[in-house]
Amino acid sequence: MDKQKQIIEMFNQIAPTYDSANRILSLGIDIKWRKQACKKAFEYIEDLKIQTILDVACGTGDMILHWQKNAHKFGKSLGKIIGIDPSGGMLQIAQEKLKDQIQSHEIELFLGEAKNLDPIPSESIDILSIAYGLRNVVDIQAALREFQRVLKKGGVLVILEFTKKNKENFLDKITGFYTKKILPFVGGLVSHNYKAYRYLPNSIESFLSVEMLQEELNKIGVDTKFIKGYSANISTLLIGVKQ
Ligand SMILES: C[S@@+](CC[C@H](N)C(=O)[O-])C[C@H]1O[C@@H](n2cnc3c(N)ncnc32)[C@H](O)[C@@H]1O
Repeated sequence: MDKQKQIIEMFNQIAPTYDSANRILSLGIDIKWRKQACKKAFEYIEDLKIQTILDVACGTGDMILHWQKNAHKFGKSLGKIIGIDPSGGMLQIAQEKLKDQIQSHEIELFLGEAKNLDPIPSESIDILSIAYGLRNVVDIQAALREFQRVLKKGGVLVILEFTKKNKENFLDKITGFYTKKILPFVGGLVSHNYKAYRYLPNSIESFLSVEMLQEELNKIGVDTKFIKGYSANISTLLIGVKQ
């Protein structure tokens, strides 16, 4: 099995326990990270009405729910939210969680990878988010080209991610101990899949630094407007706007 298929299969395996492991492992801090991402993204959209948000690597649908909740909070009205993920297991959980909104056509879900957003027409998306998903995409350049294709001119790209640190300071060492030692152990306990939760710190190590990511966005014509590390730089928020 190639690397990308193995990663997707791993998410299929942990899908049933993914939400409960997440709540325990993040101690609820991810709610703040996601809310900030929505708030900041809305600041770059002048119109009060946002037609379409696309959440790539939507998993069990958490970010989709945050978009819905925060749109009202920050005075925006929302047309449709589309979620895409290649893991059937993760999507199945999302489908159960979001069944009312799917029925009322507020939300649509598709099975698919970031590098091939075929169901999405070019220049049709106002905001494209990918939350803790880009690290799992093997062909990042192809995915970014797709993001560029589907975003409207002036559309907003929102990346939430655990990025690789170029130089580790003291705080990074402490957070590194948490992600390398505690998280694989607790995640393994909850999911009974220690391998999957050992993958997380390894995937951060082999991912891009925030500077490298910014460079990749530059290449595809997306201007980075905002970068901030949250909670001792554990989570990075990057917001770009398509030129
Ligand atoms: C850590 S989960 C994040 C899920 C969700 N975005 C969240 O914030 O909870 C990573 C997700 O990336 C998805 N994924 C893995 N490979 C992918 C790819 N090539 N393209 C898009 N999504 C991918 C997985 O199936 C999984 O649902």
